[in-house]
Amino acid sequence: MTRICVIGSLNIDLVAPVKEFPRIGETVNALDFDITEGGKGANQAYALGKLGADVRMVGKLGDKLRGHHYKEKLQENSVKCDTVRIEKDKYPGLAIVCVNQESENILIVHSGTNGLVDIDYIKEQWGQIVDNDIFLFQQEIPAETNKYIMKKLASKEKTIIFDPAPARHFSDEIYNYIDIITPNETELETLSDIKLNTENDFKKAADRLLAKGARTVIAKAGKKGAYIIEKKKFNHIPGYEVEAIDPTAAGDSFNAGLAYSLKEGKDIVEAVMFANAVAALSTTALGAQKAMPTIDEVEEFRN
Ligand code: RIB
Repeated sequence: MTRICVIGSLNIDLVAPVKEFPRIGETVNALDFDITEGGKGANQAYALGKLGADVRMVGKLGDKLRGHHYKEKLQENSVKCDTVRIEKDKYPGLAIVCVNQESENILIVHSGTNGLVDIDYIKEQWGQIVDNDIFLFQQEIPAETNKYIMKKLASKEKTIIFDPAPARHFSDEIYNYIDIITPNETELETLSDIKLNTENDFKKAADRLLAKGARTVIAKAGKKGAYIIEKKKFNHIPGYEVEAIDPTAAGDSFNAGLAYSLKEGKDIVEAVMFANAVAALSTTALGAQKAMPTIDEVEEFRN
């Protein structure tokens, strides 16, 4: 059985829906409030567990603010978590998430214990980590940790899917280890230094990442779906229309759907169609993980 491993962040999200985002200096009332589980890494692991994949999460939580509860929730959802350590007297990663009525969001993130996922910790967990086939990374743990693990895994010909979120530059060396990189529009603009206005801009921007060594670029384009760009190949896969409430973790759900479908042996086009469906469904409730679908829900939605 193909095993998937997510190495990354776990956050507690403080979620406030608002009518409109406040302007600078303004205070607005939230329409509601919730404290939910999030973090780009754990969102991907949770979505994979919900779909029914064999998945492991590697990362750290703090025991302040529901850290223990979060680990139990992941375990209840079939995510292997003996590689998630809970640090004493520490805050886990925290995200303040504001969602407006157009289903747009803005986030402020504090890295908390995600910042403690260092190379020494990875060395301790290595036996459990290396025993997997497909690996998912994001950018909410230290960049040198990502680079260290990716280099080791690439030498073992493991599959590496990198979500360069949140948008920030990283060492060029990393491109050589990436099988699939999945930037959204903001991330692709940051990494390529090209403003995306037309389809051709997506191609030009993705070509820059391919030139640095990535094998495949999948550019996530929200409601427009996604673009698959490889050397001499360009494919637009349209997205799905849904009544979106909260886009938080749509990108994470996409990556989970992509990994799930690839481990089922599907080709990249089918995997992106599946990922688009998982991402669309994930936006239909408030909170990162609330609407992540089961495999039956995805299949029913696509029929
Ligand atoms: O991608 C969505 C996630 O980004 C949220 O759950 C929040 O925790 C931030 O990490």
